[in-house]
Amino acid sequence: MAKHDTLDPATGEAILERTLGPLADCWGRENGYLSIDGQPLSARLPQTPAYLYSRRCLDTAVASLRSALPDSIGIHYAIKANPFPPLVRHLAGLVDGFDCASLDEMKLAAGISEPTQKISIAGPAKSRAEHRYAIEAGITINAESVGELERIMVAARTTGRRARVALRVNPPFALKGSGMHMGGGARPFGIDSEVIPSLLDQRDTLAEGGIDLVGLHLFAGSQSLDVEAIVATLDGWTELLHEWHQTTGFTPAELIIGPGLGVAYHPGDRPLDLDRLAPAFARLDEQLAALGQRGGTPIDTRLEMGRFLVAGAGIYLTRVVDRKISRGTTYLVCDGGMHHHLALSGNLGAVLRRNWPVIAVDHLDDEANETVDVAGPLCTPLDVLGKGQPLPALAPGDWLGVLQSGAYGASASPAGFLSRAPVTEYLI
Ligand SMILES: Cc1ncc(COP(=O)(O)O)c(C=O)c1O
Repeated sequence: MAKHDTLDPATGEAILERTLGPLADCWGRENGYLSIDGQPLSARLPQTPAYLYSRRCLDTAVASLRSALPDSIGIHYAIKANPFPPLVRHLAGLVDGFDCASLDEMKLAAGISEPTQKISIAGPAKSRAEHRYAIEAGITINAESVGELERIMVAARTTGRRARVALRVNPPFALKGSGMHMGGGARPFGIDSEVIPSLLDQRDTLAEGGIDLVGLHLFAGSQSLDVEAIVATLDGWTELLHEWHQTTGFTPAELIIGPGLGVAYHPGDRPLDLDRLAPAFARLDEQLAALGQRGGTPIDTRLEMGRFLVAGAGIYLTRVVDRKISRGTTYLVCDGGMHHHLALSGNLGAVLRRNWPVIAVDHLDDEANETVDVAGPLCTPLDVLGKGQPLPALAPGDWLGVLQSGAYGASASPAGFLSRAPVTEYLI
């Protein structure tokens, strides 16, 4: 076990194991360095800064989720978490469909998915071009408002085709403990749950307007590590579905649920225990099967997620350029920073910045005998990679790796900030 891994100040546990859970074994480790095929990773990669994604970790992440899910519940990958085409192409062989958030994501998904895989698009301000493309490609449009339903009818008329539509629901609850609330209260996303029954009652009118109401899209939040909160949210959704079936007779043929599965990013976080979630997934399956029987339509259910599938499969790699001491604080100043990894700097939705799992990729067996601040190359105090981070003594030229960096990294960062070079991404 890497010695400096033992220094999680919150728990005293090994960072790699504690952070990555079952994915820790996907990353090769030999003679104290992170390795690919027996060679140090730093020797194999041509340059830093870089994102490195591991096929093996992607396989393990999907397989571990599958083992907790009943066979009848599928998995949809939300491309927004990481749209790197080789990674999405690899996932196409593992998942049952894709959630898109733009025209380009739809084109990427449509170009690689099999006819059995389903594609949907969500987002509160879809363009006319997005509506038309989705309709022509048979992609399900998750409608976010009554106004959008009207625009979809216009697009259906213009294209002369019928639109496959799911109503995205803004629930009366939020996913508790989640990093990002996407439901409960007033939201730009989804249609308020209290409005849904009246729309379900109007499905014949919608059908006359060219809309096939195929189902519902349920998303209450993301990045939750709280099993009880995730289970309560799933229960909340099934209650609503039963209630709507009773009042309107509607049973969705297709159901997409975002369970909000989170990732352990920070000291003290624990990876989600899928064994504890498995009974809730089984119960969800039973309840939906019963509802489908009552409605005379089996419900095709998919869980939609991004980060849970890809975060652990990615490492952000950067090299120390300068080591300096300023009034008692040791700084490692690196070539990579917030322009590639905004979330690491604490500027992507975090209320307070917390450290990420940063490791010295060629010194895994060295004692973490220093506490340093790690800074990026940008002329702004926002460019923080770590504060009070325990690490072995490192010098210019040494490599650092940030674990859990496979989601919301390169594509979610301000690449144009300070006009620096874009980051390179690799899938191995
Ligand atoms: C509609 C929708 N689906 C899926 C996701 C993916 O969330 P996560 O990457 O946390 O699984 C998001 C994230 O914002 C979302 O808004």
